[in-house]
Formats: sequence, structure tokens, C-alpha cells
Amino acid sequence: MLTLVLVGGTVVLCAVAFVRYMTANHGVLRKMGIEHPATSWFLGNFDQAFKYGVFEMQRVFYNKYKDKKVYGWYDARRPAIVVRDLDIVKDICVKNFNSFIDRHTLFDAEPPLRDNLLNLRGEHWRRVRNTLSPTFSSGRIKKMICHIERNSRILLDNLQHLQETGEDVELREISSCFTLDVIASTGFGLEINTLKDPKNKFAVEAKKVLNPNPLLFTLVLFFPEVTTFFSKFGLSIMPQKSMEYFAKVVDQLIEVRKKEGLDGTVNDFLDLLMNAETEEGQSSGKDLTRSEMHGQAIVFILAGYDTVATVLSFTLFFLAMHPECCQKAQAEVDAKCGKEFPDYDKVQTLTYLDMCINEAIRLVPPGIFLNRKCVQDTDIQGVHFPKDMIVVIPVYAFHTDPDLFPEPEKFDPERFNPENKTTRHQYAHLPFGQGPRNCIGMRLALLELKMVMAAILQKLTPVPCSKTVYPIKLSKMQAKAQDGLWVKFQLRDAKT
Ligand code: HEM
Repeated sequence: MLTLVLVGGTVVLCAVAFVRYMTANHGVLRKMGIEHPATSWFLGNFDQAFKYGVFEMQRVFYNKYKDKKVYGWYDARRPAIVVRDLDIVKDICVKNFNSFIDRHTLFDAEPPLRDNLLNLRGEHWRRVRNTLSPTFSSGRIKKMICHIERNSRILLDNLQHLQETGEDVELREISSCFTLDVIASTGFGLEINTLKDPKNKFAVEAKKVLNPNPLLFTLVLFFPEVTTFFSKFGLSIMPQKSMEYFAKVVDQLIEVRKKEGLDGTVNDFLDLLMNAETEEGQSSGKDLTRSEMHGQAIVFILAGYDTVATVLSFTLFFLAMHPECCQKAQAEVDAKCGKEFPDYDKVQTLTYLDMCINEAIRLVPPGIFLNRKCVQDTDIQGVHFPKDMIVVIPVYAFHTDPDLFPEPEKFDPERFNPENKTTRHQYAHLPFGQGPRNCIGMRLALLELKMVMAAILQKLTPVPCSKTVYPIKLSKMQAKAQDGLWVKFQLRDAKT
């Protein structure tokens, strides 16, 4: 009997301690005078993500606090301030950048991912970003055009073949193969052709990199403290073997290039990273250690493959659903490029295509929100941001706010013509973030997108097929269409 009482008492005490632990921070925002949705003891406000999905949930709360500059949010135990006012967003990203230099990360990654730009903090981030910035300059990217052109031709050949056989095409799948091949060649000088050989080692490992262990990931989402515990037992949230595979690829390629005197001749990111490499422990000024090189190589895959595939597939899909926009884009490509394969300079002049991409990325931004961590107490326009507070910028909610984008559900590239652009707040459209910590790969992504789309639209027209589902139903947790993005391709007028 006594044992039963003792066991029962211990269970109750543990349960009480657990609930107290989970709710310990739930009063923080209220004390600061910041309104927030009602919390559940275990998930904070995250239970709403299961109810609405991450896209819709953002809009629900953004609309609920329409008259507020900021509102609150609890990611399980962690409080965050969500910024609704675009002038404050601007100050956070630019004017007060030094107070918001860091991004909030769920966990501290282990090597070889550890030293990557997305996760780095403070002065360490500043040094690595300064070193990498020239790598993404127009001049450098122009030199990589041969890789993008080669892969665009491969994709076009495949689509032409599918057009001839009359097969329906799932755009997301085929776009992912293309963007992976581009990352392999612009990043590592590797020609992998995932369309032909989807099981190649690089593609298989890259796909794993994008899929962290779901169980450990969920645990870390709710109990970030357990990361240290996991790492002590050799458990990793990210697929460690795949990370190590890419670190090894980097090391082997460096060795071969040094041995064969090829460094500086391949015109890929690795070439540029090699230029910046220094001996471990000797890092000064604008150099990278080998561990930092590994981190950047992996983050290019993490940040630069699925994002571009998302935008490419949705833009082509919207063009298929809006033939008037597709014809206009094709007319522009014909006028600017003629029958020549689109080159770097011509691609820069495709302004209507640029508007179509901007509109697609408005409707489905791969970066659904931005976040920053406040590193020192800061007041902006009457709002106090305490040190260590997580700050969330609700990108998708801005992109679909009818006051900023009337009839937000409608695909209308004209929103981005120069005249209409000036009527909106400059920070209403944030697909690549803003300020010194914005997307470093933006130029590369846009070049890749415009070149491959121009090449496709020159020859083919995407149109709906029997499997097409439109309007799109977005997946609850990521920027994907629940029913896929199905189209077929038609050959353009035989005269062209
Ligand atoms: C259409 C494609 C892409 C989209 C929509 C996108 C979006 C974003 C967004 C929203 C951020 C966060 C910005 C912020 O916090 O202000 C970001 C950061 C970043 N992106 Fe991209 N990205 C794309 C392509 C790429 C590519 C191709 C690469 C590299 C090859 C890349 C590398 C990075 C890196 C390294 C960061 C972290 C920058 C830092 O913290 O200094 N991205 N991206």
C-alpha cells in the first residue's frame, strides 16, 4: 500500500513539475503588455499549427491583432514577439540591425554543419558573411552561367521528350532534379544529371539533408534543452552521415584540384571558398577555416536547392493556369532573346518574367517567416524588445494582406510593375528577407530561375492537364501543393 502511495505521489509530483516547467514562461508576454492567443500548457500556441497549418495560422493571428504593432506567440515554452508594423520590420532588419544581428536557431548544429552562415552569430557571422559576399557578386555569378545553361538544356530536353510522349508532368519533382543539379555544379563542379539518374549518391544524400530525424526534431522543438543530452549520446537531429558525406566530397575535391592545379579554373563556389581558405586556427580577417568551408558547402544545399525548386515549380504552374500571363512572358522572351538560348545579359532584361516570379513567390514564399534574436535591450517606435527575445516577421501574412495586395489570392504579376510597386510599403514583399542578413543567394536564384524559364517558354507552353488541381491547396507544414503541381507541355507554334 505504502509503495503504491509513494509511486502515485511521485507520478503526481513529476506531472506537476512538468506542467510548471512547460508553462513557466507563459506569463512573460502578458507582463510586457503584449497580447497573444490563448496558450495550451504543452504546445503554447503551436497547437494552432496542427489545426490551421503554418500558412493559414499566420494569417489568422495577423488578422486577429489588426490594430496592433506587435503581438505575441509561444512556441511551446518559448515566447516570441511577432511584428505586424512594416516600419518596425524595417528598423529591425536595417536601422537597428546590430540589436538583431542573430537568427534564432532551434538547436546548435554539430560539425560539419556547425559553422554555416544561416546559424552563425554575432562577429563570427559578420566575418564569414564578409568573406562570402564577393562569392555571390554579379561578376562571379556570371562566370557560373555555363553550369546553369548546361542544366537548363538538360531540363528542356526532358520536357520536350515528355511533350512528345504526351505525358503529364509533376512540376515540383522535375524542378527539384534541376535545382539539385545546378547546386551540384555551381557549388562543387559536379555533373550529376538527377533527371536521368535520380538515385545518384549526391542527390540521395542531399534529400536526406533536408529531412531531419522527425522524432528528435519534434522533441527539440518543444524541449530545446535536450539537444546537449542527445549529442552526448551521439544522437543527431540532422542526418550526420549525409553531412559527413558532403564534408568528405569537399575535402576530396580540394585535394584533387590542388594536385592537378585546377584550383581557380572550375568557376564554382568551391573554387572561391578555396581561395579564402586558411590554416585551422589561423583565421584572420577575411579567411575561412576548413570547418567553415564544410558548413557553407552544406548550407548551400540546405538553403539553395528546395527553395529554388519551389519557386520554379509554382511560377510555371501559375503560368499554366493563366495563359494570358504565359503569352505575355513568351512574347517578352521572343522579343529579347529571339531564337538564341537566353544568355546572362538577355536574362537581365526579362522584366515581365521577373514580375511573374515575384508574384509566384508572394503567393508561396519558401521562407514563410523570418526570425531574429534580440541581442540587447532595444526600443523601436514605442515597442520594447528585451535581450534574448525571439522576433518573428510574418512574411506570408504580409504577402496576403488585402491592404497591401488587394485580392491577395489572385495571381497578378502587374502588382510588380514599377508603378504599382511604388504604391506599397517597400517591406511588404519579403521573399528573400531584408538588410545585411538577407538571402546571400538571391542573385544566383533569380538568374537560375529566369534562365531556365526563358529557355522553356521559348519552345514550350505549360497548360493544365487532367490531373491539375487549381486553386492550389497548400500542404499544412511546408510550401508544397497537397495534390502536386500537374501540367502538360505543348509545343509552341511551329513558326517559332
Ligand atoms: C528562390 C530561392 C531562395 C529563396 C526564396 C531564399 C530565401 C531566403 C530567406 C527568406 C532567407 C532569410 C533572410 C533573412 O533572414 O532576412 C535566406 C537566407 C539565406 N539564403 Fe536563401 N533563398 C533562396 C535561394 C538561395 C540560394 C540559391 C542560396 C545559396 C546557394 C541561398 C543561401 C542562403 C544563405 C546562406 C542564407 C543565410 C544568410 C545569412 O544569414 O547571412 N539561398 N534565404
